[in-house]
Amino acid sequence: MSGKAQEAAGLPPGDDKRVYDAYIAGRQSAAMAVAVRAGLFDLLAHAEKEADAGEDFEGLSADDLQSEMKWSARGTHSMLGALHAMGLIQHAPRGYRATAEALRSLTRDTPGSLRGLIDMEVDHFLSPKALQEALQEDGSSVYGGEDPWEAHEKDPAKARAFTEAMHSVSERPAAGFADHVDLSKTRRLLDVGGGSGALSIALAHVNPGLECVVWDIAAVRPLAEEYVAKAGLTDRVTAEVGDMFADRYPEGYDAILFSQILHDWNYETGAELLRKAFEALPSGGQVLVHEKLIEDEDSDGKVPLANVLVSLDMLVWTEGQQYGVAELKKALRTAGFSHVKRRKTTGYWSAVSGVKP
Ligand SMILES: C[S@@+](CC[C@H](N)C(=O)[O-])C[C@H]1O[C@@H](n2cnc3c(N)ncnc32)[C@H](O)[C@@H]1O
Repeated sequence: MSGKAQEAAGLPPGDDKRVYDAYIAGRQSAAMAVAVRAGLFDLLAHAEKEADAGEDFEGLSADDLQSEMKWSARGTHSMLGALHAMGLIQHAPRGYRATAEALRSLTRDTPGSLRGLIDMEVDHFLSPKALQEALQEDGSSVYGGEDPWEAHEKDPAKARAFTEAMHSVSERPAAGFADHVDLSKTRRLLDVGGGSGALSIALAHVNPGLECVVWDIAAVRPLAEEYVAKAGLTDRVTAEVGDMFADRYPEGYDAILFSQILHDWNYETGAELLRKAFEALPSGGQVLVHEKLIEDEDSDGKVPLANVLVSLDMLVWTEGQQYGVAELKKALRTAGFSHVKRRKTTGYWSAVSGVKP
């Protein structure tokens, strides 16, 4: 829309909504992460659970929330306004309650919650400054240039925070993955860089004959063991220390899984990892890849945004990038795999599989 004043001021026709919305979007991340770290959603969830036992939940007042969060009155007012507009809290007779989606995805100890991932934003927000530095470095810059996996080996707290974040990213998609891949005839699966074991746990749940080994760096092994024990699967899911860059992968597995591994490294290294998997598998063995893939452009020339943006996280954290669908299928075929298939699993996620001839 163009008015007289706009013309008189020499302003080009049109508006700046798309640009302004992109500019302001980062505030949503910031507000949500700070509220998660402060425990606002856990507090609302707890209060609602307590009330469930008795009468209807009337919500918590802004004053209650302010005193529990230890925020200023002005800050509390602004934060509650923002979280309400984002659809994360809603009005209740006494003040506010969390929305169903916030209860599901932002609270501690809720299966599939993104809390761990979002909490980590407080310490590692992808600010313009961080992105600017990452673009100049072209290597992982998240811990001041230190190799992130070495940093995790040295500092158990870092390994735990990262693994918790990964578990919260992976738990829900792992279930989607397990529902879409056929491992009914697979006996043993090697979960390369398996982290918390989220994928192995989901696969073992739906494939009663399957044994999985979560293969990761030393600092992560005890963490995986905790998650596996919690899932009650210690008889079929074990954790072993391994190095995915070792000359050879262990044999005796009829499936090898890379979940969010190829995107951590450049294309040459990714090709090398797939080649090692090919070498280690028997004929008829399967390689499985779990990633958020970048779709081809749709008929309007648009590429879905969320998975493209993950490449910026990869830039800051790793040496890698998100793969395109065709790119990943080609990488599997180049490594020697046949019957290369891609399935959309859940949300932004895909499974790509191939078979060793
Ligand atoms: C992005 S996380 C993926 C975790 C898990 N696969 C998932 O999808 O939730 C990458 C994992 O690779 C592991 N890793 C890094 N370097 C490794 C190495 N050289 N050998 C084995 N694992 C490694 C990390 O410790 C981390 O758990």
